Amino acid sequence: PIILRAYHDKVIDHYTNPRNVGSLNKNDIDVGTGLVGAPACGDVMKLQIKVNEKTGVIEDVKFKTFGCGSAIASSSYVTEMVRGKKLEEVGNIKNTDIARELSLPPIKLHCSMLAEDAIKAAIKDYKSKRQATKLK
Ligand code: FES
Ligand code: FES
Repeated sequence: PIILRAYHDKVIDHYTNPRNVGSLNKNDIDVGTGLVGAPACGDVMKLQIKVNEKTGVIEDVKFKTFGCGSAIASSSYVTEMVRGKKLEEVGNIKNTDIARELSLPPIKLHCSMLAEDAIKAAIKDYKSKRQATKLK
């Protein structure tokens, strides 16, 4: 209980009831996959976006996180944040925004960094896939 009290309600909520857990097919051309790890603790996060190629809107998003409660809460929160938004709107998500929303303590900042890295890696993967098909 002492440990739990150190966490904000929103972390507990996203941790116990994470949104958008799962996987998309990483081979689909409209899916971008970000797989990142936190050197500080060895935790790993996979975050995937499915993008409408005409509108650039993120139509689906899924994540799987092998990590601490704050990392799971951060990824869950990010999936809610980006769903229905355009790629260019979410390209500059900052981990500090995530940390502020979830009231993460400083020691847990790197957990939200994982979520920022994961969404950025997913966008990058999607873009490079599109680029590759254009060149074919
Ligand atoms: Fe223990 Fe991340 S260090 S879960
Ligand atoms: Fe490493 Fe949270 S403790 S991601």
